[in-house]
Amino acid sequence: MTRSSPQSPMAKKFLSLFFLSIIFSISTATYQHNDGRLEGKVAIITGGASGIGAATARQFVQHGAKVVVADIQDTLGTSLVQEIGTKQTIIYVHCNVANESDVKNVVDTTIAKFGKLDIMFSNAGVMSNPYTSILDVDYDIIKNVFDVNVVGGFYCAKHAARVMIPNKKGSIIFTASVVTATYSSLTHVYTASKNALLGLSKNVGIELAKYGIRVNCVSPYAISTPLMLNAFRLNKQMADKWFAEAANLKGPLLGVQDVANAVLYLASDDSKYASGHNLILDGGYSTTNVALIEVYRKLFLSTTNRTM
Ligand SMILES: *[C@@H]1O[C@H](CO)[C@@H](O)[C@H](O)[C@H]1NC(C)=O
Repeated sequence: MTRSSPQSPMAKKFLSLFFLSIIFSISTATYQHNDGRLEGKVAIITGGASGIGAATARQFVQHGAKVVVADIQDTLGTSLVQEIGTKQTIIYVHCNVANESDVKNVVDTTIAKFGKLDIMFSNAGVMSNPYTSILDVDYDIIKNVFDVNVVGGFYCAKHAARVMIPNKKGSIIFTASVVTATYSSLTHVYTASKNALLGLSKNVGIELAKYGIRVNCVSPYAISTPLMLNAFRLNKQMADKWFAEAANLKGPLLGVQDVANAVLYLASDDSKYASGHNLILDGGYSTTNVALIEVYRKLFLSTTNRTM
């Protein structure tokens, strides 16, 4: 590789274009991140101390919202809110979503502190251990996952609706999963719980529509969140390699920021007529079924040089 001298006219032109493009990207980024799209809005984010919830908390505050981070990870949650903003913009409240009095308390604390609730992002979730056969499933496994993923979703919707109905507006968003759209390697229990949540969101959305309250789901493809890494006992590098290779869309890797961007859309007035959606963020993964061609390759192309 050769480098042209910095004094050459070509290099000067290149450098000035380079710096201009940097300045342009910085100003574009600043514009995107401070457009006040959630100015005056108040949000609760359950499971807000890490992963998708933490990325969304940052995103919401950057766009002008007041945020209550609710989680059981008290140390993480407390340091996150200190890092993101001040006590006037973001607070942490301990909340196990499987416990109704905890959820009630988060909503009441939000009203006491910020006066109202516009956005409920019901995002807290758990996974069971991977690769369990239906023969291994027992009540405790089902109960542990359903208590958080489904019962927690019910409590969040119930207590959000309680304070949103008198206001005649609001946006409730659930974190579902790509397992609501296609098979994945995740367990029966997790898959069943996320599909239950999708059903809940559609039904509740019909009841609450007459009060101007919108209800939607966001359903991401696999991401290297702490939840995912713990469930599969993988490090981020291994998981990213796995998810990228299995992905339909090549190039970008799905990250928590991408989910936060989708949630920002569903939370803001940009989506003021969007309700009953399952916003699948999977790069088209759920629209593909590569089994037929994969087996063709394995059976008939392995000993030849033919390609398809
Ligand atoms: C729910 O949480 C409250 C307050 O944190 C606690 O007193 C209560 O025992 C919990 N209930 C259950 C069923 O765990």
